[in-house]
Amino acid sequence: MNPFSRILASGHAVPPRILTNADLEKIVDTSDSWIVERTGIRQRHIAEPGSALSDLAMDAAQQALDKAGISAEDVDLIIAGTVTADMKFPSLACLVQEKLGANNAAAFDLSAACSGFLYGLHIANSLMQTAGYKHVLVIAAEMLSSMINWQDRNTCVLFGDGAGAVVLGPADDNRGILSTYMKSDGRHHGLLYNPGGSQRPLTHELIDSNEATIHMEGREVFRHAVVSMTDALHEALKLAQIAPEALTLLIPHQANVRIIEAIGKRFKIAPEKVYVNVDRFGNTSAASIPIALDEALSTGHIQPGDVVGLVTFGAGLTWSSSIIRF
Ligand code: UT7
Repeated sequence: MNPFSRILASGHAVPPRILTNADLEKIVDTSDSWIVERTGIRQRHIAEPGSALSDLAMDAAQQALDKAGISAEDVDLIIAGTVTADMKFPSLACLVQEKLGANNAAAFDLSAACSGFLYGLHIANSLMQTAGYKHVLVIAAEMLSSMINWQDRNTCVLFGDGAGAVVLGPADDNRGILSTYMKSDGRHHGLLYNPGGSQRPLTHELIDSNEATIHMEGREVFRHAVVSMTDALHEALKLAQIAPEALTLLIPHQANVRIIEAIGKRFKIAPEKVYVNVDRFGNTSAASIPIALDEALSTGHIQPGDVVGLVTFGAGLTWSSSIIRF
């Protein structure tokens, strides 16, 4: 199967401030050993209150453009996966468009929680085939720290802030996106959500009660994550006609090292072929895959010709995957 588009280059950015497990021990009833054992997380980057997610997103996108040697004016489309844009509207993508000077692009956000990047990749790849876009920025950026209840130890230890981006261009022979897949199941939306919205506009009561924050049924989400990511990876491999053993690297969503290990085991992929950085970044939601992908590319974990699997899962529920030959 001949790919239509490929990732020309990537970038990522995280806020400088690091919050360690030891720092969290001073805020809630938790311990470094519990967090490391149950999640694999040792630290996460947290933005200063009042800082702009669009700055992080712009930084990641500019790096991708610079590495690809593409000027912002040559970008036709910007898709940003996020649930924590700078403001309710306009979109993060439009704010980044202005900061980049990508004045010839169309720009929009998509809401798929942790699946935002791979949903964006699927849509970008499809629109490049059907609408003639040539250079597309797919950005995923999240500042979940802005909606964390810092008194809830079930959630506050898990998340971090960050942004990742790729720039897509036309495929080169057989190098490029071999398959993309996305799926949802809204019946389980109540397992992971933030209720602050048009049905419950922000009031003093909602804010003071810490209600307008992340709510999660961790154990159930964990169970769904393993089942859904297994489904997604199977489907993307089948579409690409690639066997699991042909993958040079698997980059799963970085939510919990136990979920990552479970996926690797199900596909009999050796641990050294499964990328892990959740220990350093925590769960950065939509940004998790492009941050890991950019790290893997810039540290030589991915070489020309390698076949890489990407798979994710998030609130919605949503799940998504892609197989790419670099
Ligand atoms: O990115 C979107 C997808 N999100 C995910 O994939 C997250 C999926 N879920 C998970 O990663 C895990 O379920 C968690 C890490 C959130 C929780 O781990 P768990 O092994 O499922 O723990 P649990 O929720 O079953 O809780 C076990 C115990 C509870 O105490 P009791 O009731 O047994 O006395 C919790 O209260 O651990 C307690 N606990 C904690 N203890 C210390 C929960 N959070 C903490 C904490 N520190 N931070």
